[in-house]
Amino acid sequence: MSLGAPVRRQGPPGAGTVRDLAQPGRAAWSFPDLDVEPTEIPEAHRRRQAPGLPEVAERDLVRHYTRLSQMNYGVDTGIYPLGSCSMKYNPKLAEVAAAAPGFARLHPLQPDATAQGALEILWRLEAALCEITKMTRATLQPPAGACGELTGLLIMRAHHTELGNPRRTVLIPDSAHGTNPASARLGGYRAVPVPSTKRGLVDVDALAGLVNDEVAGLMLTNPNTLGLFEEDIARITAIVHDVGGLVYYDGANLNAIMGRSRPGDMGFDIVHINTHKTFATPHGGGGPGAGDPDGTFRMSEDAPRSIGRMHGFHGNFGVLVRAYAYVFFHGSDGLQEVSELAVLNANYLASAILEDFPLAYPDPRPMHEFVATAAGLEREAGVRAMDVAKRVIDLGYHPSTVYFPLVVEEAMMVEPTETESKETLDGFAAAMRQAAAEARSDPDLLHQAPVTAPVRRLDEARAARHLRLTWRADAPGND
Ligand SMILES: Cc1ncc(COP(=O)(O)O)c(C=O)c1O
Repeated sequence: MSLGAPVRRQGPPGAGTVRDLAQPGRAAWSFPDLDVEPTEIPEAHRRRQAPGLPEVAERDLVRHYTRLSQMNYGVDTGIYPLGSCSMKYNPKLAEVAAAAPGFARLHPLQPDATAQGALEILWRLEAALCEITKMTRATLQPPAGACGELTGLLIMRAHHTELGNPRRTVLIPDSAHGTNPASARLGGYRAVPVPSTKRGLVDVDALAGLVNDEVAGLMLTNPNTLGLFEEDIARITAIVHDVGGLVYYDGANLNAIMGRSRPGDMGFDIVHINTHKTFATPHGGGGPGAGDPDGTFRMSEDAPRSIGRMHGFHGNFGVLVRAYAYVFFHGSDGLQEVSELAVLNANYLASAILEDFPLAYPDPRPMHEFVATAAGLEREAGVRAMDVAKRVIDLGYHPSTVYFPLVVEEAMMVEPTETESKETLDGFAAAMRQAAAEARSDPDLLHQAPVTAPVRRLDEARAARHLRLTWRADAPGND
């Protein structure tokens, strides 16, 4: 079996923070002898205590940070099939464009006349996003998909307020992304769940029973979090429009449909897309770089002129340059090919691991990602989805998302993305099958995993709730 990129301990054992390498008198710098009269720093500006920086040689400093970078796993290291995150390989051409000095060194306060090229890019990108989604206007301000949702919800609220009643509720299918109900709440609405059918699609009859004239709108994630393309979109939009509601398209997963179908053609009023993960910036905290999306919205003719600012200046400009570069070097045919490959790769991988990890909702076929279940393996061998994920790390791969969506028992949500080759997909599938075989023959191996990673199994809830990302001299254990 071919292994993925190894995630291994690097460097000497026992090395922790850069402070562990410090020795009195060592330094990573040297200044030439002073050849001018020394000047005293004014008393008011002198620090009372030394800054407490570690005394480390340049060599040790470089080795320390290089070692840390080699312990990391990212989209430049190997497949990162984290369902719902589209962690794909990002072409370096987009990086080169964003790093061009004319873009990277722009100051947000410099006069418009000196930033015409940058403004033109934003204008062209807005036009391209409107073309891709079939919307009439777009804002590039929201700095994340969730903020795009909030922006859309505030537009929805402003629209209804102008008509005399902001209304009270927003309908959200239980297969929606988790940020949807949170955004509805932040937008001042009560989120009302719409149940799914046994096939994992919106229960349209139940929806018809939930609408009334207090419904401001419905938010539809499509493909939904089960990776399925909703089949009854025309009926769904008609039911909501009939009571005067607006229909919102969560298009964060646009890489599944772009170039093939457009929310505007399907009757949606407001759309957001995650330009970071759809195009060429890894997804925020889950990725090796900073990732910030933006949104695109259709303002109806009677929509208010402004809901105010969602972000300073023009949003996250570097991410927008990457998106622009990606859209234009692919062209419309290329973007269509991207979505074709995203769906093909997901279906290929789903079929390759089907025997051990069956699809939770096998009909219709998944789009760009799929949700498999380890529930059978748990019953058979007492090994859970989390154990499989940890073992996959030992086998050299980043695991899939686990335990999301919540409606699936022992969920494993896999999104291989369009950028992976057949060999990589085969390697990942082989690792998953090997983990399943080991679960049956030696379940403890999986309960112990990972054993080769830089850290063993973490208390993830504690790590998430008690983040400690900086070193402080006064923190317990740091004396
Ligand atoms: C369907 C869907 N909606 C919304 C979001 C939220 O986007 P962000 O994490 O950028 O806030 C995501 C995240 O990937 C998503 O997959």
